Amino acid sequence: MANYGHFDDSNREYVITRPDTPLPWLNYFGQDEFFGMATQTAGGYTFWKDAKLRRLTRYRYNNNPMDNDGRFLYVKQGKSVWNPGWKPTRTKLDAFECRHGLGYSRITGKKDGIEVEQLMFIPPGENLEVWKISVRNKTKKPQKLSLFSYVEFCFFEALNDMTNYQRTYSIGEVEIEGSAIYHKTEYRERRNHYTLFGCTRKIDGYDTSRDAFVGVHHGLHDPKAVMAGKCTNSRAFGWNPVGAQQINLSLKPGQEETFAIILAYVDQGDLPKFDSPMVMNKTKGKEILAKYSDMKVVDAAFNAVKARWESLLSIYQAPKVPNEHLQRMVNTWNQAQCMATFNLSRSASGYETGIGRGMGYRDSNQDILGFVHLLPARARQRILDIASTQLADGTCFHQYQPLTKKGNADIGGGFNDDPLWLILSTCAYIRETGDLTILNEPCGYADKPGSKDPLLHHIETSIQYTLNNRGPHALPLIGHADWNDCLNLNCHSKEPNESFQTAGDIAGSKAESVMIAGLFLYATRDLVKLYHFMGQTQDASRIQGHYDDMLKTVEEQAWDGAWYTRAFDAESKPIGSKVCKEGKIYIESQAWCVLGGAGQNNGRAKKALQAVDKYLYTPEHGCALQYPPYSTYHSELGEVSSYPPGYKENAGVFSHNNTWIHIGWTMFGEGEKALEYYLSICPSAKKDHDVYRSEPYVYAQMTASQFSPTPGEGKNSWLTGTGAWSFVVASQSILGVQPDYTGLRIDPCIPKKWKGFSVSRKFRGVTYSIEVTNPKSKSKGVKSLKIDGQKIAGNVIPLPTDGRTAVKVEVTLGA
Ligand code: GLC
Ligand code: GLC
Repeated sequence: MANYGHFDDSNREYVITRPDTPLPWLNYFGQDEFFGMATQTAGGYTFWKDAKLRRLTRYRYNNNPMDNDGRFLYVKQGKSVWNPGWKPTRTKLDAFECRHGLGYSRITGKKDGIEVEQLMFIPPGENLEVWKISVRNKTKKPQKLSLFSYVEFCFFEALNDMTNYQRTYSIGEVEIEGSAIYHKTEYRERRNHYTLFGCTRKIDGYDTSRDAFVGVHHGLHDPKAVMAGKCTNSRAFGWNPVGAQQINLSLKPGQEETFAIILAYVDQGDLPKFDSPMVMNKTKGKEILAKYSDMKVVDAAFNAVKARWESLLSIYQAPKVPNEHLQRMVNTWNQAQCMATFNLSRSASGYETGIGRGMGYRDSNQDILGFVHLLPARARQRILDIASTQLADGTCFHQYQPLTKKGNADIGGGFNDDPLWLILSTCAYIRETGDLTILNEPCGYADKPGSKDPLLHHIETSIQYTLNNRGPHALPLIGHADWNDCLNLNCHSKEPNESFQTAGDIAGSKAESVMIAGLFLYATRDLVKLYHFMGQTQDASRIQGHYDDMLKTVEEQAWDGAWYTRAFDAESKPIGSKVCKEGKIYIESQAWCVLGGAGQNNGRAKKALQAVDKYLYTPEHGCALQYPPYSTYHSELGEVSSYPPGYKENAGVFSHNNTWIHIGWTMFGEGEKALEYYLSICPSAKKDHDVYRSEPYVYAQMTASQFSPTPGEGKNSWLTGTGAWSFVVASQSILGVQPDYTGLRIDPCIPKKWKGFSVSRKFRGVTYSIEVTNPKSKSKGVKSLKIDGQKIAGNVIPLPTDGRTAVKVEVTLGA
């Protein structure tokens, strides 16, 4: 078993100790409007707000070698040419380390006594990326070398950039002044922004033409200029503009040189665009470079990145958890993943190209569940933005572009689970903050220009939408799909180039989803509690009535004997039923019926979970999405049957839906099972990285299942709803600290052998230091709760009314 690295928990870093990881292992920079992605070999790209419309540097997906565009440094010393991050030259290094931290990565490479460190990060609130570069002579002799920097510029609109070469090869423009390269393609016409690629140190040469620096018949592994040891001072006219700088260094024994390279998105604002024809006004770019030429400013900016994360993470910390994997995930990496999914939804990662999908309606609502405690004000704005892409009849645009905040017409709406997720995010926000004003905030409907209907109106519209769109069993119609984007019961596609998500006609269809019914139960129950909290008891009973009706329908129509049926197809035939030859049991309907409260009084909920355990679960990889996988394509089922068996929605282990089952086990007090299941998909707990291949510090969307030829192989890491939901599982369901309307509710569900743990939680301005002890070896049930030494009844900590901002909570399990 190869060893590629380890966690450094005290520094909240993952340390990669060899560069040739089984797949590129990615990290993110930025949490405001500017973002970068970097792998352990410095691959990746950078963009402002929107990876499709404002991409600064290029990246080629499905390339070979993989991950071969990025922020590269080359060292040329004598005959030897190498990169501190190993790639692209892949020259053997004497030492390599990449520390992926929260919001930064630090790559250090060493060869022949020269050490180069590249620390990359995005300062809070700034639209720029800093590479702090340190070059050290670790030998006892003077050394001479040249260092070259390299990025390839993207022409901002990434799709056109990678498809329309008859145009792009003639429009590239740059300017060079001092140590800075200004990429200004399309600036003469409609763009009012440019990219700055500047070095804070005097440079000894540059290139901006890729043909000159790399060479038409060379590659990034042997760029012509680096091999020759000299840049050509080329100016790009069209073709592929790049930023490359040459820095010659003479270092005494033990000497270190430190400087920075800045990659910035510069908006010209109201400044005049040009100093003279063809010469842009570079005032802002120069100011940026001048500012960061002071290394103290660079260091302060880096410290600000770290300080910001420390402060965010201090909101939830569980320092004494008996399981190291759960502890590090819940305290550090899971929260980092929640930040990434909140900011980027499913847009830009190693698998999401940044051009395909913007923000997802269902995705972003769920992402809020794991993020709202960190920055509730941003969650609030996001909820309102999302709601504004809903139509007056309740239909939701399935995606929207973050730059314009407008619904994406290509994909449209008709994913019938979408509206309900808004209720979950809104309730989570109010439970966290107690702020009911969000409900009155006007957000309007996308098809009613100027409308000002408040958020609460959207929530009622969403409930009504589900009620209005029901099929022959009185279950909700599925539309194009529900949470499972690949269960396309109305698509009937026979045309290979069609999108499963949009093909087919949903008007008049009968196909129904039990998963949506379960989600409706969950959402209405949430809403009932919210109305009670608001003191609107009539509304609470009205919604309770809808809950009761739907529950009755589910129990009458959707119980299959040993588990809940998944759906009914366009001909009203059951899916996920014992009568099916393949796809007999699906995970989502078990999860949502149980979470929604079905099967509580008749034993079915427990049976449904046991069926998951029997047919879908393995301790090594987690639960497959369904069983048995479809071996052939079924046009009446759509994309789910398009994947080879054991991958993606065709019975792969889809981590996201596993988390709901984890919650299910905790509802039944099954602490052992909950933790075991939690660990079965936990990236930190993966043992063989040559099998798992994906990053050990963040969840992957999917792991190839026991039904595939490559079981255990993780894929599509970072941008998955698993981030948010697994944080909910660990922090709220297992460790049991649950934000609730009137205070923190304490309801852990842990393995019996755990003696206890502690959680520090900031909640509505108060810091709660919670100590949980488990003297009687129980899994669930709070026996006593003491607040600052005072015993109270129940398990909800009341909000202090006397201005206390620190509260000590002692919890004893064993009721
Ligand atoms: C992807 C989508 C998400 C969907 C899931 C299951 O993760 O982003 O919206 O629910 O796949 O199909
Ligand atoms: C494919 C994927 C699914 C994803 C969808 C997004 O169907 O299998 O996971 O949600 O694409 O459009």
